[in-house]
Amino acid sequence: MFGFNRVRKAAAVATATAAAAATALLAAPSAVAAPQPIVGGTTTTTTAYPFVMQITDASQNQFCGGTLVSPTKVVTAAHCMVGETTSGVRVVGGRTYLNGTNGTVARVSRIWVHPGYTDATNGDDVAVLTLSTSMPYTTAKYVSASQTSVYAAGTTARILGWGTTSAGGSSSNQLRTATVPTVSDSSCASSYGSDFVQSDMVCAGKTSGGVDTCQGDSGGPLLIGGVLAGITSWGEGCAQAGYPGVYTRLTTFSNLVTTQINS
Ligand code: ARG
Repeated sequence: MFGFNRVRKAAAVATATAAAAATALLAAPSAVAAPQPIVGGTTTTTTAYPFVMQITDASQNQFCGGTLVSPTKVVTAAHCMVGETTSGVRVVGGRTYLNGTNGTVARVSRIWVHPGYTDATNGDDVAVLTLSTSMPYTTAKYVSASQTSVYAAGTTARILGWGTTSAGGSSSNQLRTATVPTVSDSSCASSYGSDFVQSDMVCAGKTSGGVDTCQGDSGGPLLIGGVLAGITSWGEGCAQAGYPGVYTRLTTFSNLVTTQINS
């Protein structure tokens, strides 16, 4: 319940802040801080990261990220698929810019959501989309169930997405990336209490904050050593000191994902 409220609160704050920012722009343009990447990071391209997919609605408006793990299979977050149907979703590859029209658009023939999923803060935040047509892009490798040591605290992880560049800010037109250190489970439990489900989640972020995924980055990859190891899931605000980003711990779901990829 607490977690559900938290997510809802974040969404409400985002809307209110966006409106306030728009007003502030009219009233006092110089008072608006320069936007930061993903939150903290740099622009990149789908040429550099060809397996990073936009998950969009039927009008190709991006709302989540995903990772191509086979020519017809995309790993994303379960919470991205709430209320979605195969006919309402598209996967767009090879498109660096949200307002681009290039790349490859695929329809979705099947949406598998982890059967245990209820809310991102309860875990099981993983989904696999089956595409109706193949993507002509290099796929990402993903962690195997036994590779649990990849999450050792302090390991450098790479995050990618088109999400907002500040909590309540606007999305980035260009794909962005940043690196963040993984955070120990004990530290993440101190931040988030019982909302942190150690078996299903892993945290990453700097102690001082400033670099993080944010709204719209969900479903996208957390790469460790270039291998898909996590899925952007949730967090308290974005890039706040003491509140790292929370990612789906993919080792826990690796065998299930493999079953979906082979089905
Ligand atoms: N739930 C968000 C989404 O749907 C992702 C939030 C990630 N937040 C964070 N602080 N790392 O896009």
